[in-house]
Amino acid sequence: MSPARRIAQLREEIRTHDHRYFVLDHPIISDAEYDRLMRELQELEVAHPELVTPDSPTQRVGGAPLSSFPVVTHPVPMLSISNTYAAEEVVEFDRRVHEWVGPDAPPIQYVVELKIDGVAVSLRYQEGVFIQGATRGDGEHGDDITANLRTIRSIPLRLPAVHPALRNVEVRGEVYLPRASFEALNRLRAEQGESLFVNPRNAAAGSLKLLDSRLVAQRPLRLFVYSLLCDDEAAVEAAVPEMDSHYHRLQWLNEHGLPVNPHVRRVGSIHAALDYCDDWQARRADLPYDIDGMVIKVDPIRQQQRLGATLKSPRWVVAYKFAAQQAATRLKEIQLQVGRTGVVTPVAILEPIFLAGTTVSRATLHNEEEIRRKDIRAGDTVYIEKGGDVIPKVVGVDLSRRPSDSVPFVMPSACPVCGSPLVRSEEEVAVRCENLSCPAQVQARIEHFAGRNAMEIDGLGPAITEQLLRQGMVTDVGDLYTLTHEQLAALERMGEKSAENLITAITASKTRSLDRLIFGLGIHHVGERAARQLAEHCRTVEALRAASKEALETIPEIGPTIAESVVTFFQNARNREVIDKFRRAGVTMELPEGTGGSALGPLAGKTFVLTGVLARFTREDAAARIEALGGRVTSTVSAKTSYVIAGSSPGSKLERARQLGIPVLDEEEFEELIRGQGSGVRGQ
Ligand code: IVH
Repeated sequence: MSPARRIAQLREEIRTHDHRYFVLDHPIISDAEYDRLMRELQELEVAHPELVTPDSPTQRVGGAPLSSFPVVTHPVPMLSISNTYAAEEVVEFDRRVHEWVGPDAPPIQYVVELKIDGVAVSLRYQEGVFIQGATRGDGEHGDDITANLRTIRSIPLRLPAVHPALRNVEVRGEVYLPRASFEALNRLRAEQGESLFVNPRNAAAGSLKLLDSRLVAQRPLRLFVYSLLCDDEAAVEAAVPEMDSHYHRLQWLNEHGLPVNPHVRRVGSIHAALDYCDDWQARRADLPYDIDGMVIKVDPIRQQQRLGATLKSPRWVVAYKFAAQQAATRLKEIQLQVGRTGVVTPVAILEPIFLAGTTVSRATLHNEEEIRRKDIRAGDTVYIEKGGDVIPKVVGVDLSRRPSDSVPFVMPSACPVCGSPLVRSEEEVAVRCENLSCPAQVQARIEHFAGRNAMEIDGLGPAITEQLLRQGMVTDVGDLYTLTHEQLAALERMGEKSAENLITAITASKTRSLDRLIFGLGIHHVGERAARQLAEHCRTVEALRAASKEALETIPEIGPTIAESVVTFFQNARNREVIDKFRRAGVTMELPEGTGGSALGPLAGKTFVLTGVLARFTREDAAARIEALGGRVTSTVSAKTSYVIAGSSPGSKLERARQLGIPVLDEEEFEELIRGQGSGVRGQ
């Protein structure tokens, strides 16, 4: 057989197996067999590079990372859906639909779908080939994330032969991460000392934003498609009459290899639609992915067109969202948790209970006042709720089941970890442990210091940190720099190779920029932004340590609270000792000589306000570019604003800028500025 024929055959086979695995959830060969097919194809393509085509399964993962995503304009805006939590409002929606369609229309059929809790994307097929994928963005302009979407193997790179009227289409859907993959990803990140994603949706969104598609390929993202837009609707109507129904369009997508959620149902009345929604509300935990409600759509495309849309959302669709899920369980005890800055938070330890797909055994209680207000006691049966985020809350108590001997909660007066007296600060409800060597704080401080936005020490996760503390190898972050290979290699579950990697990572962290070091110190109230300002204006740790409260307050964005906190931090002898350890180890503690603010980005210290619509950027994109260059974006124009960026149809912000005499840049000037060509502007 000729190499060309074999290549074609392998590609077809691999596509079929991808479809079976990722869309039908029904593989018929083992992973090893699949890998063998893939390897054979790769080898043939290496030997015959002239036969490589962009739609080959080997070409899913692209080349070098991008520096940013190009902007895509959606030919049909990606609107949102009007939401409701109340069945009566769904009935009201049905009434309005009837009113709009008119009395002579046939009875209305609805299609009911799961509302997948992920990230909306659009996929463009031109001549049957997947050519572009984009995020929703602001609805009109999104990011071009084609390379990232190509890595999702349930997305066919080419549609099978179709009617000519259906070769140029846009498919929309939701990218999501199955719950099990989300948990596995977080476990891996915890081991590697990286910050955790709060829920599968954030993990999916974060993954699609990665500029390196090779990293995206390692995240097992999935997709469900839920709509088909045809470039030439008139031709489709004439040639393929059955495409006049949303339900049939979903069937068509399914038949053409795109992943349509199997739980779609067409019903003849709004009451049947609501019943189906109730079924899923009760069964949502059985699904391997998160849904946050149901979507009810008018089925006939012609009726959809007649109903049209408001500025925000189409009139033919409504989202019936699920209320937060609740469950009742017994609160075994109230424990105290000590955070990085010593803040002590009460946590409810619960009789484990299964809720919304995970087993819950802890819930936050926020603070003492909240416990008192809700009168939550150990031994109580409490209602817990999981809202949009994964950390469950205690929302109430079933007083009828309170044990007769229960007593109100009293905040202990000593730290549960080190026994130091707890201090209540005047302006906050929080209670804190002020012992800097409290092991609970040290552990959390080291994790923060090693975190991705601080000194980024890969491989220094919670488990290793705990061992280092237990063995007395470190007492604060300064000690990390005197750890030896032998010490590390002797730890549990630590081989020669990982010890070596950790030493390399620790050494590499010595040259992180000053702002990351300052952020890493974990000074109360000093976040990344404040750390950047402090670094830019003080330029050395020495100067920061010597600065008075008044001097610090003259720095932009630094108010009395941060200034006070910095001064208090350096008054503490133990903290000064940590700085001395850094010095001895050769950690970089100043901005490089001769760099202006530019070591922090050319726009450091500049504040921007965006108004109107930009043609080539979404708002988020423009803001991200500014922030990447060290600038800041705020929403109101004031005397402190450095520039207003005005797109088309700007609002009152432009007027205000003119009144205040603040420079206004149009889109082109803004582009020049971020490309670094607007030196005139930059120097101002
Ligand atoms: S239809 C204009 N169907 O929910 C209507 N959306 O809150 C187009 N979503 O932006 C959307 N599952 O990202 C539709 N089965 C489904 C959906 C769905 C999830 C998302 C979608 C949309 C958001 C609105």
